[in-house]
Amino acid sequence: MSDKASCTMDANSAKDIGSILKDTGKITAADLEKIVALQEEKGMLFGEAAVNLGILTKDDVNRALSHQFSYPYLGDEKYPIGRELVSILQPFSHQIEVFRSLRSKLVLSGIGSVLKAVAMVSPNQGDGKTFISANLAATFAQLGSKTVLVDANFRKPRIHEIFNLKNNCGMSSVIIKRASLAQAISCTPIPTLHILSSGPQPPNPLELLGWPDTKEIITSLKGMYDVVIVDTPAFSNTADALVISNLVDGILMVALKGDTKKESFDNVKKQLKTSAARILGSIINEPDTKKQPKRFKFF
Ligand SMILES: Nc1ncnc2c1ncn2[C@@H]1O[C@H](COP(=O)(O)OP(=O)(O)OP(=O)(O)O)[C@@H](O)[C@H]1O
Ligand SMILES: [Mg+2]
Repeated sequence: MSDKASCTMDANSAKDIGSILKDTGKITAADLEKIVALQEEKGMLFGEAAVNLGILTKDDVNRALSHQFSYPYLGDEKYPIGRELVSILQPFSHQIEVFRSLRSKLVLSGIGSVLKAVAMVSPNQGDGKTFISANLAATFAQLGSKTVLVDANFRKPRIHEIFNLKNNCGMSSVIIKRASLAQAISCTPIPTLHILSSGPQPPNPLELLGWPDTKEIITSLKGMYDVVIVDTPAFSNTADALVISNLVDGILMVALKGDTKKESFDNVKKQLKTSAARILGSIINEPDTKKQPKRFKFF
């Protein structure tokens, strides 16, 4: 489990890639010379030359590049984080672009400035709310926003699993005053990303969400972070998501391509619109084609 002590900022941001690799002991001064010589001789990129000489792996180079650009990168071997976190595990892949694009659209909608808390809502189980919440939160955090990801799905919580965290203390513990927010929040390997997992499953989730304490927790989080992303249970199954929707500044609706019925999507929209909730936009999740949400539509 990640802990608060491991959350440190990287100090290597201003250095060139060769110095970063030398300072971190990945290459020696002699290696550096060989790499630079090949780089100059063949007109290669530094990383390319180093891999070509067998001195470094591609992962070493990506890690150094991420340090150079102050971009959190975890590679794939060190942290036992769920494979679903494509935004952390594959930050150099084209897949992440879709989350960056969503983030940019949300920033334009005021998220991170005038609006802070966003809930991910969809009609059914399995639409991709948790997958998108986790990756979107990581994307905001990677680009410097102090972000907290909240698991408000007390019925089928999964955020703690994705981030390999314990769930013995979380949102439910804070609501019933068994823990403070500081005790319940976990760090992740990305310094700017914190997690408030669901906590132990309460027998009365809907009632708990309606307590003034829950609203106070969201308000406190908004004061502590730039961005608060809240994962919710399926809208059609319980009234939990409707209650949560009225505690946040905006809603992102998720539809699973080829699965979500227009009727059920419109029904969620209608219910949200008759409440105080503000719908920011919708996401069409297409996991079967590209293993990522592909299209974003705002209305
Ligand atoms: N775009 C995607 N690419 C790859 N896998 C995806 C994608 N969207 C969803 N999945 C996978 O589909 C499964 C269901 O997604 P997820 O748990 O996010 O749905 P959910 O809407 O949160 O469901 P629930 O309402 O039960 O909480 C997960 O295994 C998730 O990793
Ligand atoms: Mg979920």
